[in-house]
Amino acid sequence: MSGFIYSQKSMQISAGDGVYLTDDDGIEYLDFGGSYACVPLGHGHETVQSATREQLSELTFVQAVYPVETRQQLYDTIAAVAPRGLENVWVCNSGTEANEAALKFARSATDNTKFVATTHAFHGRTMGSLSLTWDDKYRSYYEPLLADVEFVPYNDSEALAAAVDDDTAAVMMEPIQGAGGITPATDEFLQTAREATAEAGAALIFDEIQTGLGRTGRFWNFERAGIVPDMVTSAKGLANGLPVGATLCRDWIAEDYGSHASTFGGNPVIAAAAEATVSTIREENLSSHATEVGSYLWGELERELGGEVRDIRGEGLMIGIEIDGSAADVVHDLAHEEQVLTLTAGKHVVRLLPPLVVEEDHADRVVSALSSVLS
Ligand SMILES: Cc1ncc(COP(=O)(O)O)c(C=O)c1O
Repeated sequence: MSGFIYSQKSMQISAGDGVYLTDDDGIEYLDFGGSYACVPLGHGHETVQSATREQLSELTFVQAVYPVETRQQLYDTIAAVAPRGLENVWVCNSGTEANEAALKFARSATDNTKFVATTHAFHGRTMGSLSLTWDDKYRSYYEPLLADVEFVPYNDSEALAAAVDDDTAAVMMEPIQGAGGITPATDEFLQTAREATAEAGAALIFDEIQTGLGRTGRFWNFERAGIVPDMVTSAKGLANGLPVGATLCRDWIAEDYGSHASTFGGNPVIAAAAEATVSTIREENLSSHATEVGSYLWGELERELGGEVRDIRGEGLMIGIEIDGSAADVVHDLAHEEQVLTLTAGKHVVRLLPPLVVEEDHADRVVSALSSVLS
């Protein structure tokens, strides 16, 4: 084995342009999995590419103790889209690191140790984030993980309120579970999390790594519940395909965060890409676009597939279609028969996380592909 590889798809992808990927044989695929939600602006976006190229030629790296204008610009741009009061920005290299930082910050700022997470949660694969990730298929090889973690059933407000106590450092949850099956939290569940943590002096962390950056029609999905957490984590599409993560937090956490650090976190090249990405999402109002195209897609999915599938759920351009059969088989057939790339979210859910720039004709193609594969 020359490389440590995942199970491989049969096509080798060699180019990406907008919402399309092209393989070595020149076959074009519509990327409706959005390469795991990592390309909100589509592949090869010119603004991001030129900002990245320019920074690469000026300064690729210097350690974070030296102020760099591009990094400062990224902090300012993220602070401008941060929920009110969460303008302290910690930048790292991935989603799991953003969550890892949030967990460490919560322990340091509260002097407590216990974490509360939810069944079916996915927060990443490093030891801390993995400890709050629910499914055994990710955990079993690496146990023992962090001991002081309690899982409560997702959307069970009573169980959540009962689990948060004086030893709790933080509650962490996804406002819509991604890998767990595209399951939205009720507003009530999010509000209960806010009340219970505020009362106990614990931190509330929303993992918006898949749901954030406008995908669900709001910049952050939790906004629908009319509350503000203590920390929000972001990653995936934040630099339109380059590795980055961010943890946004309140002053009381930033002032007592401990001694966390990262060599490459906030490196100038990635910072330039992330700054261009977030600015473009804002300037082009892609949250509204996600709502518009998302509701068109939903309508068409309901009309064409509503009778045949178990459920269609999610919000905006984060959609799960639950079917009776194997989601992996449908994802395979969509790719090979229809040249449409999608994802699974568990055994029975086909997951759509397209670039936010998709249009109605792309939605039509996906609905027709699904319709033909499912029948
Ligand atoms: C909700 C959520 N949290 C955390 C992660 C981990 O992100 P990364 O793979 O960048 O470490 C993911 C990745 O799929 C995710 O969907």
